[in-house]
Amino acid sequence: MKRLAILLSGRGSNFEAIAARIRAGALDAEIAIVISNRPDARGLETARALGITAVSLPSKGVAREEYDTLLADEVERHAVDLVCLAGFMRLLSPRFVRRFPLRILNIHPSLLPAFPGLDAQHQAVEHGVKVSGCTVHFVDEYLDAGPIVKQAAVPVLDSDDSDSLSARILDEEHRIYGEAIGLILEGNWRIEGRRVVAGK
Ligand code: GRF
Repeated sequence: MKRLAILLSGRGSNFEAIAARIRAGALDAEIAIVISNRPDARGLETARALGITAVSLPSKGVAREEYDTLLADEVERHAVDLVCLAGFMRLLSPRFVRRFPLRILNIHPSLLPAFPGLDAQHQAVEHGVKVSGCTVHFVDEYLDAGPIVKQAAVPVLDSDDSDSLSARILDEEHRIYGEAIGLILEGNWRIEGRRVVAGK
């Protein structure tokens, strides 16, 4: 059985969607560990309620490189096949990324490369785009930048504010993150330049 680590900082709804997909038998994997850099993250409580090992590894006051070493050590202890960032609000240093090459995924609430960084849905509304969405991508050492695994688009309506757009995007996040994880774990893919394409 393939093993996942989930890294989160808050609400954890993407984590819940992944856990639900596994329970429903639609994703052949197990969540070996949930780690939060914020001790008060709701995702930690949810994990414990689901009987999943949950670790709080506070980042406050710890130097980045030091933190990333602690985090990578913790992840490694659980011998996971894939690390899934799910609302993990930190940029991972090259030191972390290099320890898990092509084994870290992230979900971002925009159609990358549009609107990387914080408040992507707000950026989309402010910019006036008519379509936005979400992206699952491999994590490299740059912000929201690695090869794209899967995307889904949603319309931006005249009546939208960033909350209503976020809710529409979130539904798609919950769907495509699990699908993307399944695809990557199956292993029938390769990287060509920046492209993730089907076939070994
Ligand atoms: C999601 O919008 C995700 O795309 C972004 O942070 C949010 C996390 O939400 N990276 P949740 O904690 O999974 O509910």
